Amino acid sequence: MRYASLLALGAVLIAGAASAQRQPAADQPDVTTEITASRAAARQFGGTLQDALQQAVQVGGPVNGIAVCHDRAGQIAADLSSKLNMIVGRTSLRLRNPANAPDNWELAVLKQFEARKAQGEPADTLEFSAVIDDEQGQKTFRYMKAISTAAPCLTCHGEAINPEVDARLKALYPNDQARGFREGELRGAFTIAKPLQ
Ligand code: HEC
Repeated sequence: MRYASLLALGAVLIAGAASAQRQPAADQPDVTTEITASRAAARQFGGTLQDALQQAVQVGGPVNGIAVCHDRAGQIAADLSSKLNMIVGRTSLRLRNPANAPDNWELAVLKQFEARKAQGEPADTLEFSAVIDDEQGQKTFRYMKAISTAAPCLTCHGEAINPEVDARLKALYPNDQARGFREGELRGAFTIAKPLQ
């Protein structure tokens, strides 16, 4: 059932997404606080990752950067999740680590982001949130924010990857789909979930 109806839901809510601070409908919980917290969490997660990556690349080159993404991205997400009491992660339509695979809701939102970008919305403002019932019927606030591909990302996600980096990526991620990106393309999204009372 879920996929088609979620897509429909996505279509209905796209209009509202641009003004995420709008008044909630009478039968919807007010999630203004969650939206604000999610934006901050996505910023913090992205900033922490970027700092760790930059430092590692400066010290030991891009192969050393791979180690940070491989060994630390998950831990940074887990630490932040417990600190903020929200589940924080990253996902994509083209995955490097299969553990980051989108669920149905995330898949629909990633496609929605591609569609909105194709219609001219700037990638760095693409975000979307909704309250959905999860598989167990728990009301859950969900938020996603698009991640676009910047020039430094191309070292490890671009079309021409240097042989040393290429070999390390192949060893760690035999089914890597997260290559061949161009600057400005959507690389994926931050994704945040918070169960509501
Ligand atoms: C030094 C190499 C390197 C650079 C530079 C790099 N990444 Fe990655 N990226 C990786 C690796 C390795 C993973 C897999 C991490 C894991 O195992 O969870 C990854 C995973 C991701 C993911 C999670 C989804 C997935 O495919 O598993 C996103 C989103 C992402 N990178 C975006 C970016 C963006 C945006 C930039 C530029 C700001 C960037 N990366 C720069 C190596 C890199």
